[in-house]
Order: sequence, then C-alpha cells, then structure tokens
Amino acid sequence: MICRRACFKVVDDLDLTPLISYLSQVAEKSGCDAKLTLNVSRKTLVCEVCCLRSKKLIDVIKARFAAVKGLKASKCFGSKGLTAPSGWWPLSGSVCLGVEAFTGSPFCLDERNLRRHAVIVGSTGSGKSTTAKKIFKELAHNKLVLDWHGEYRGVAKRIECISLNRLRSLGQLELMDALANSLKLTDAQYYLLMKVVQMLYAKGGEFGIRDIIFYLKSLEELSRWIRESKYSLLRKLEMLTVRGTCKFEITDLESLTEGGLVIDLSGYVTEYAKKFVSHAVLAYLFAKARGGELKRTYVIVEEAHNVIPKSSELSVADKIFMEGRKYGLHVIAVTQSPRAMSENVMKNSYVKIIHGIREVDDAKYVAESVGDPSLWKEIISLDVGEAIVAQRKLARVIISNS
Ligand SMILES: Nc1ncnc2c1ncn2[C@@H]1O[C@H](COP(=O)(O)OP(=O)(O)OP(=O)(O)O)[C@@H](O)[C@H]1O
Ligand SMILES: [Mg+2]
Repeated sequence: MICRRACFKVVDDLDLTPLISYLSQVAEKSGCDAKLTLNVSRKTLVCEVCCLRSKKLIDVIKARFAAVKGLKASKCFGSKGLTAPSGWWPLSGSVCLGVEAFTGSPFCLDERNLRRHAVIVGSTGSGKSTTAKKIFKELAHNKLVLDWHGEYRGVAKRIECISLNRLRSLGQLELMDALANSLKLTDAQYYLLMKVVQMLYAKGGEFGIRDIIFYLKSLEELSRWIRESKYSLLRKLEMLTVRGTCKFEITDLESLTEGGLVIDLSGYVTEYAKKFVSHAVLAYLFAKARGGELKRTYVIVEEAHNVIPKSSELSVADKIFMEGRKYGLHVIAVTQSPRAMSENVMKNSYVKIIHGIREVDDAKYVAESVGDPSLWKEIISLDVGEAIVAQRKLARVIISNS
C-alpha cells in the first residue's frame, strides 16, 4: 500500500464540501482511500491518500486543489515515509488482513481481486477460519458463510436450519443438481428421482424431501433394477430427514439473498444433509445471480473439499468457480485437504491464502499451484496465524486475530 500526503495553506475562507466530494470520487475511482483534515489554528489543509497501486493520485489531487481559489500548495512537515496505521484506513474496496511479516506495513487485499474467487488452505488449527472471519467482517458486500462446524457464532446473524420442506423455489434443475451432488446418485437412481421431481413440479404447490420420499415409495416396481434403485435411493433420501439439533425451523431459501448471514450446518446430523443444504444454497444463489436478481455476493464455503470435491462431474460449485464472477457471485473456499478438492478451485482462485500445512504432499501441491514448487518448505514452517498470500505476487502476512 502506498500512502501520500499533500498540504495546502488556506488563504481565504473556504467551503470544504466540494473538495471532500471531489476527493472521495477520485479516490473511489482509483480504489484508494482519502482523508481531508483542516487545521483551523494553523490554517492548513492536509490531504492524505492511501492506495494499493496508484502513485499518481496525489499529483492529480494536488493539481485540482491548486486550482481552488483560497488554497496555496505548501510543504508538508514530517510527512516523509507516511505509513497507514493499521485499522485507521478503511480503504474503500479493500480487505485488510493484518501486517506484512517482514515490513510490518498493513496488508490489505483489493476487494476486486477477491471477485476472481479465493481459497484458504492450511492444516487443522493453522488459522483458516480466523482468516475467513476477518475477510467476512471486512467485506462491505452481501456475504454468506456455509459454516460446517458452527465456528462463526457471533460473527453475523445465524441461521440454524434451511427448510427442507419448501424446495419449489430452488427450481427443478437446481434441485436435481443439489440432490445428485450430495447423494452421489447412480444413473438409475438419478433417473427415478428425476421422474418424481418432475411430477412434483408439474403438480404445483409446495413440497419437500418428505414428499419426494412419499412419491418415490409409491413408484411401481416394474422391474428388478427399479426396485433395487428405488430402495437404495430411499435410504439416501432418508439421511436428509434425520433430525439433529436442527429443528427444521423454517428459513426459506428466499431469505438468503438478504446477505450478512451465517448458515450454521453443525445441527445437521448427516454429512448428506450438510452437503445437500450447501449445494442447495449455492445452486439457488447461482440461479438468482444468473437471472440478475442478486446483488454482488460472497460465499465463504468451509470444508470446501466436501462441497467441491474432486470428481468427474461438474457440480454447481465448480460452475460458480468458472462463471460466477461475471454474475457477481464469488466464492472463498476454505479447506484443510486441498488435494481432495476439485482442481477448478485452485485453478480459478486468483487469491490464494496459504496457512501452515503439515502434510508435505499437500504443501507441494499448493506450492505448485502458485507456480513456485520450492515454496513448500516455507509453507510447512508457517506458524499459526501466519500465511503466504498469493495473488500476482507472494506476500508473507501475519493475520490479525481481531
Ligand atoms: N491470526 C491469528 N492470530 C493469533 N492466533 C490465531 C490466529 N489464527 C488462529 N489463531 C489461533 O489458532 C486457533 C485455531 O484457529 P482456527 O480455528 O482459525 O484454525 P482452522 O485452521 O480453522 O482450524 P480447523 O481446520 O480445525 O477448523 C484459534 O483458536 C486461535 O487461538
Ligand atoms: Mg476452521
């Protein structure tokens, strides 16, 4: 981050309002943050600008301010090497994570880089969720967390259960996608399920997993394969209805578009249910985003290897990694098992936040994915809360835990 200061002598009575609005406009356009301070007793006006890239902004501002009647450019005393105090500069459009390990200067991500998706990797206990929470708090956009272990309590409004009784709003294709990806269906099971789902959509009215089970049970068993597939499919669907601490309170998918939510999946007993809800949420948001009905939204996906696993089939989450950016839907995948995750995640994440990894093969895989095979030695030596952040170039960062 580059910070610059320009100072002016106030030689006349001055209305600061147009200057402030001009300053905020140019700063916002350039992805910078700026501040004007008027020192009445000393009759000076100080303009401070911090940018991630643009060094020239202060010259543009100086030239514009010099044209203002009542201002005269003056020397800034003690302004050399101005660095942004952490926490003071809420750079518009930036997500500040902590400080650079070697320089101690604040480290912020440009929010626009996160639009090209991100991945946070690291062994268990290395600090992944702490970093993800930091990003969640800093992001000034619609945001959701798919929280597998209930780690995000107190971070934002929490939803315990997504209703599995009201699935119509999901859409037929999205529902099939969510079921197929969470239940790992065979072709025969997929075919039977599709028949039932098509029938429920054609029938009209609300329906849920229990209705799917009910109609599947009533399907005629005209052959042995139908009978076998039907009962194996029923066993999988029943897994979605096992009640844990999640009381199946009704939170409709529609309410997800309001953003700023933590979807706590820890109450679901089975992995099947956690996966189904994750896929349903992603499929719903993606459909809304493609239809232009969703404000820019970020989704943090915890345990991403479970939601976007390595597989020959493309899941909705894979599709979001490949196409979500242009519809304003962005994912931050969090995982301790990078090799178990779809290759699309590493390939399509512009920002990679790498915490300490103890498993050498995982560390080597991640090092290769950032184009620096020798980096694995540094990755295995990172302390808790330390990370290497890879964007266009690498930075070693100490993540702030506040
Ligand atoms: N940036 C940090 N600064 C200081 N301590 C940290 C930081 N990040 C994590 N910790 C410490 O490490 C512990 C584990 O962090 P965290 O829960 O974020 O790890 P994790 O990688 O998400 O682990 P898991 O894979 O088990 O979910 C935290 O409880 C905290 O005490
Ligand atoms: Mg965690």
